[in-house]
Amino acid sequence: MALIAATGFGVWTQQETAEAWRSLIPAGGAVVACDGPDVVGVAVFLDLELTVPGGAVLPMAGVSWVAVAPTHRRRGALSGMFAELHRRMDRYPIAGLEASEAEIYGRFGYGPATIWQRLSVDRVAARFHPGVPDPGGVRVVRAAEHRGQIEDVYERWRLQTPGGLHTPQVLWDEVFADRESHRDGGSAQFCLLHADGFAMYRVHSADKKDRVEVSKLAAVTPHAYIALWRALLGLDLMATVDIDTHPDNTLPYLLTDPRLVRHPGRQDGLWLRMLDIPAVLQARSYAADLSVVLEVSDDILGGGGRFALQVRDGRARCAPTDAEADVHLDLSVLGSLYLGAHRASPFAAAHRLRCSAERARQLDAAFATDGPAELGYGF
Ligand SMILES: CC(C)(COP(=O)(O)OP(=O)(O)OC[C@H]1O[C@@H](n2cnc3c(N)ncnc32)[C@H](O)[C@@H]1OP(=O)(O)O)[C@@H](O)C(=O)NCCC(=O)NCCS
Repeated sequence: MALIAATGFGVWTQQETAEAWRSLIPAGGAVVACDGPDVVGVAVFLDLELTVPGGAVLPMAGVSWVAVAPTHRRRGALSGMFAELHRRMDRYPIAGLEASEAEIYGRFGYGPATIWQRLSVDRVAARFHPGVPDPGGVRVVRAAEHRGQIEDVYERWRLQTPGGLHTPQVLWDEVFADRESHRDGGSAQFCLLHADGFAMYRVHSADKKDRVEVSKLAAVTPHAYIALWRALLGLDLMATVDIDTHPDNTLPYLLTDPRLVRHPGRQDGLWLRMLDIPAVLQARSYAADLSVVLEVSDDILGGGGRFALQVRDGRARCAPTDAEADVHLDLSVLGSLYLGAHRASPFAAAHRLRCSAERARQLDAAFATDGPAELGYGF
């Protein structure tokens, strides 16, 4: 299994790290494809917990380690493993994954549901806008000596963030182990700590310029967010501060010159596939009333159907129905709408969601969220 995964991704995972992740695979959560005695494909799911809009937490089957040997590609190994793997997810209402390539998983009912936005700040010229407060309260600490506080802040952050994930202790062990193999050529980990937030970062040196790569910034309050960015942009000898965050990041609004925040790239983060559509749609909160009948197609894994969705005062009721549908969409599109990172209207314009313009606007309003979605961590 490990050999096929390493060959598929071109990376040997350190044994301790592989064991930490492997401990998150529940019984029956791994399948392989074989050719005689040889394992030629692998796919697993991890036992994860996903925060949805409104703060409810859903058990999520986190699909990972998906690889097929280069000698056996495009012969249906992935399709066969996925059919079996999804049959085994009966205690999960939702499944999620990160995609190495964007064309693989839509056919299996997965839609991109969070967005990674890359930001790069020209730190040297950056000045805070005069109206922005200077709350202070940030300490320079060694992360491992403040593990309890960091875990507590992260826990609060993930419970208020759609896309947030519970972090099991074995994964925290990996974070604090700060292994050389995880540094991507950067320094050991630095940590800035506030009562309501933290930033962990590494320094990378190239062409006589030092740049800060923030590996995680979690802020539970707007003050903590501002205080942490003031500290990061106070790192005098660094040229830039880079971070992967969500598209609604407020950093440009803090600065006198918002052009100093460049947006070098953007990529899908978490992909979602609903396994129990009524349970998942009922779990989140909504921003506007809605009454629709959804016809959801899921051609390959066969999980769709027709569902009446009624939203009143922020809460939904959803059940299978025989009534005529007024919204037609693929399960992958429903997954993309779920955390609020994508709206219905552009899908309607692309003819990937079929309904009246009025219905698309109603879907936009109902599925909107207060806080932007962000994937807790990669898996
Ligand atoms: C991605 C991967 C697992 C696909 O495995 P596979 O056994 O070749 O896939 P299948 O033969 O079951 O393909 C199923 C369908 O998906 C399509 N497909 C598979 N991989 C694809 C890709 N990378 N891009 C576009 N389409 C792809 C196939 O063409 C096929 O379509 P069809 O049914 O219309 O013919 C394999 O190429 C691999 O191991 N890649 C390297 C590691 C990797 O990227 N893993 C995914 C991690 S998220």
